[in-house]
Amino acid sequence: MTDFDTPINRFGTHSVKWDSMEGYFGVPAKDGIAMWVADMDFRPPACVQRALEGMLAHGVYGYYGEEAEYLDAIRWWMKTRHGWDVERNHIFTTHGLVNGTSMCVDAFTTPGDDIVLTTPVYHAFARVIKAAGRGVTECPLVVRDGCYEMDFATWDGMLSGRETMMILCSPHNPGGRVWTTGELQGVAAFCKRHNLILVSDEIHHDLVMPGQKHTVMANAAPDIADRLVMMTATTKTFNIAGAHSGNVIIADEALRKRFSERMLAMGISPNSFGMFMATAAYSPEGAAWVDEVTAYIDGNRKIFDAGINAIPGLRSMPLEATYLAWVDFSGTGMPAAEFTARVEKGARIAANHGDSFGLGGESFLRFNLATPRAVVVEAVARLQKAFADLQ
Ligand SMILES: Cc1ncc(COP(=O)(O)O)c(C=O)c1O
Repeated sequence: MTDFDTPINRFGTHSVKWDSMEGYFGVPAKDGIAMWVADMDFRPPACVQRALEGMLAHGVYGYYGEEAEYLDAIRWWMKTRHGWDVERNHIFTTHGLVNGTSMCVDAFTTPGDDIVLTTPVYHAFARVIKAAGRGVTECPLVVRDGCYEMDFATWDGMLSGRETMMILCSPHNPGGRVWTTGELQGVAAFCKRHNLILVSDEIHHDLVMPGQKHTVMANAAPDIADRLVMMTATTKTFNIAGAHSGNVIIADEALRKRFSERMLAMGISPNSFGMFMATAAYSPEGAAWVDEVTAYIDGNRKIFDAGINAIPGLRSMPLEATYLAWVDFSGTGMPAAEFTARVEKGARIAANHGDSFGLGGESFLRFNLATPRAVVVEAVARLQKAFADLQ
């Protein structure tokens, strides 16, 4: 049994989550709780630590080559965990998936194009798209029975006609949805109708709560293989985001050619630390750890949801995947500045601001639950106190 309970002090380690909390949010380092950026307060599995120790013991950190072992680890993982057959030569390794996203935008669209996002959604998508001189078409998700759903009928009428790509977040950050096969096929049909390349960012696809089943887009909609780009990574799953490496997986030869030309033009080659860690992580030992960590997060989310939903006016979306709780404060009737101040100044908790995730996020804050249980319990107690007048 892995010990996720014992706190690990991350201050003074250049952790953006903890060391930048005070600067970004004004939440004091002295007794603040960092529940914003999406990394975990846990060590990765021992197999990953051993891989790094092996590198350290050898002590020469040169360029990485002979990728077969790494590529086969990815193939093994995708086959055994997701029932998905991946070919070695379909895999491109980028410097993480924000980089993967920007490479897709660069390779498959041109300045002036628009790109469809289903908002609210992971904020870096819009940031990268806009920085690259492309536009964002925000297709809002709808809330039904407290969860996000797609709304293709409305979206069909919302496009500018300049869209050439859609980026899907599957499972969904920040709403925590595991999209059903039917919903994924709806996305595929939408992309076909509007002639869009589909980039499916599945960085969270291993962090699925017990009882939930994620379907990779490549399996849900094999009929769109000619317009599909898959993105996966070990970094979120195993808490090794600092390794900055991810995989863009493309089955279609023509798309692959365009992507590989841009990789060449941008001079992208892999970071050996990421390769060693990923190879070690995608293993039976890594798989056992993922089962443990998801069960632990599931325990955290139950405590968090029970405590938050007991506060009148607050509602935490049911988390089917990810460790990011998406809490709606609209029922309090407070403007965002007020509920945010209560969380940051009153509860001394740093959480992501909902408006950064695009249309529909304005009344939300996002809380990271990948932290020792006692921290979640303390956060809930502080939030209950900060909104005690509503009880
Ligand atoms: C959907 C999604 N994609 C990408 C990333 C970040 O990817 P990377 O660290 O590999 O750049 C995140 C991080 O939270 C994410 O939620």
